[in-house]
Amino acid sequence: MNELLHRASGRHNRFLRALKRLPVDTTPVWIMRQAGRYLPEYRATRERAGSFMNLCRSPELACEVTMQPIDRFDLDAAILFSDILTIPDAMGLGLDFVEGEGPRFARPIRSVDAINDLRVPDPLTSLRYVPDAVRTIRNALGGRVPLIGFAGSPWTLACYMVEGGPSERFAHIKQLMWDRPEALTRLLRVLTDSVREYLLAQADAGAQVLMLFDSWGGILAPEDYRRFSLPSLAELAASLRRDDLPVIVFSRGANTHLDALSQVGADALGLDWSIGLGDARRQTQDRIALQGNLDPAALYASPEALRNLVRRTLFDYGIGSGHIFNLGHGITPDVNPEQVRVLVETVHGA
Ligand code: CP3
Repeated sequence: MNELLHRASGRHNRFLRALKRLPVDTTPVWIMRQAGRYLPEYRATRERAGSFMNLCRSPELACEVTMQPIDRFDLDAAILFSDILTIPDAMGLGLDFVEGEGPRFARPIRSVDAINDLRVPDPLTSLRYVPDAVRTIRNALGGRVPLIGFAGSPWTLACYMVEGGPSERFAHIKQLMWDRPEALTRLLRVLTDSVREYLLAQADAGAQVLMLFDSWGGILAPEDYRRFSLPSLAELAASLRRDDLPVIVFSRGANTHLDALSQVGADALGLDWSIGLGDARRQTQDRIALQGNLDPAALYASPEALRNLVRRTLFDYGIGSGHIFNLGHGITPDVNPEQVRVLVETVHGA
C-alpha cells in the first residue's frame, strides 16, 4: 500500500490517502449501499439471482453488482457486495430476506443455552463465498479504485440475532442486557472473535480497507454504550490495526461518544448527519479522518439544491485533508441514479 500512496493523488488512491489524512487532488467519495436497488442494472442482476442471498453467495454475481456503480460513476472506492448478517447465518440462525420487511432469522437467540452453543464460524469454509467474492472483485477492479471489506459490529449483530430481525423497541436485547449482562458479554465475545477472523480473511483475499457498521450503537444510553458497544469496536480496531489495515468505524447515532471513538485506533469515523463535520472535527481534535455525512434524502432535492447541500458539507469540513465524502446512511431504493452523478461531480468539482 505504501507504494500506492506515494504515487500522485488520482482516482486509484485518493481514498487511501484521505484515510491517512495525506493531501489529495480532490475529496474522495463513495456511497453507502452504492450497489443497490436504485440502479436498474442491480435490479436486473438480482432478478436473475432469484434472491438477495443468492447474489451474496455467488462470487461472480456479487462481483457484477459491486462493479455496477464503479462503471457508472466516478466513485473513489468499491465496497464488497455482501451483508453484515452473513456471520449469524453461518452460525446457524437461518437467514432469510422477506420482501418489503428486511432480514429475518428462523432461529433467533432467545436463551443463555443458545448463546453458549454459538461457535466462531470458519471464514474459509462456511463463509468461503465472501473471500472468494473479494478475490473476484479485486481482479475485476484491476487497481482502478481500492476495495472496502466490512462486517457488522458485535453489538449490532447481537441486536439482530436476539431480536430475530429489524426492531423498533429492541425489547429482547435490552432485557438480556439488563437481566443477564454476563450472557450478553459472552455473546459479544464470540461475535468479536468471529468478526476479527472474518475481516482478516477478507483482507487476506485482497480487501484494502475494512469498515465496521455499528448501525445500532445509538439505541444505547451512554453508560450501556461504553459497556456493550465501544469495547468490542476498540478491540477490533486495535487488532486489525496491528495488521496495518486501515479501519473505518461507523457508529450510527453515537455522536455523544466521538471523543472516545476517535481514540479506539481506527483511521476514520463514519458519521450520520445529526452532527456537522466541523463540530465533529473539533471534537475529535483532528485525530482521525471523517467520512460522511450528507442526509440521504438530499438526493430527492432538485439537482441545484443537491449541489448546494454537497458544497455545504464540504465547506463544513473545512480546509485540509482527511474528509471522505459519503452519505450519513445508505442510499434509498427510489433515488434517481442521475442524482448520484450530480453528487459525485459536485464533490470532485468543488
Ligand atoms: O454498501 C454497499 O453497497 C455494500 C453492500 C451492503 C449491503 N448491506 C447490501 C444490502 C452493506 C455494506 C450492507 C450492510 C448492512 N446490512 C447493514 C449496516 C449498514 C446499515 O444499513 O445500517 C445492515 C444493518 C444490514 C442488514 C440489512 N441488510 C437490512 C436491515 C436489510 C434490509 C433493508 C433494505 O435496505 O432492504 C438488508 C438488505 C440489503 N443489504 C440490501 C442490500 C443491497 C437490499 C436487498 C435487496 O436487494 O432487496
